[in-house]
Amino acid sequence: MATVTINGTPHTVEAAPDTPLLYVLRNELKLNAAKFGCGLGQCGACTVIVEGEAIFSCITPVELVEGRAVTTLEGLGTREKPSALQQAFIDEQAAQCGYCIPGMMMRAQALLQRNPQVSDRQIREELEPHLCRCGTHMRILRAIRRAANHLAGQANPVGTGGRS
Ligand code: FES
Ligand code: FES
Repeated sequence: MATVTINGTPHTVEAAPDTPLLYVLRNELKLNAAKFGCGLGQCGACTVIVEGEAIFSCITPVELVEGRAVTTLEGLGTREKPSALQQAFIDEQAAQCGYCIPGMMMRAQALLQRNPQVSDRQIREELEPHLCRCGTHMRILRAIRRAANHLAGQANPVGTGGRS
C-alpha cells in the first residue's frame, strides 16, 4: 500500500513499495501516457516529473515518490486546452507512432520549467537519454523550440533545422 499524489490528486494504491511507479500509473491509476519501452532506464518512454525533475518511472519504486508531487503528461493540459508544449508538438506534427512522445514531452517540460530561455544545444543535451525509433528527432526539437519561444513571448517560432 502506498499513497501517491499524481497531477495534484492523492491516491492510495495497493502496490508493494518496490513496485515501479510506471506500473502503478498504468495498471492501477489507468494513466497510460507514460509508456513501457525498455524497463531499464535506457529509452525515456516512461519519463514523468517528480517535483520538477524528469525521472524514469520504470526504475523508480513507488515508495520513493510517496509524499512528493508527481506530474504525468495527463497533468499538463487537456484535449480542449492543451499546454504550450502540447500545442507546439501538435503544430510541428512531432509524433509519428507517438510512443516516445510522452516521455520526450515530460523531460522537455521539466527543462522549460527550469529554464525557459533554453538554447538549442541545451535542448539537444537534455533530450539525449531519449530514443525515438521513428526518427522524428528534428520535429521534436522544433516543437520544444517552438514552446520555449512561445513561453518567452516571442512571436515567430524558430526552427532547428529542415523538416524531417
Ligand atoms: S521504459 Fe523506462 S527508460 Fe525505457
Ligand atoms: S514517434 Fe515513434 S518512437 Fe518516436
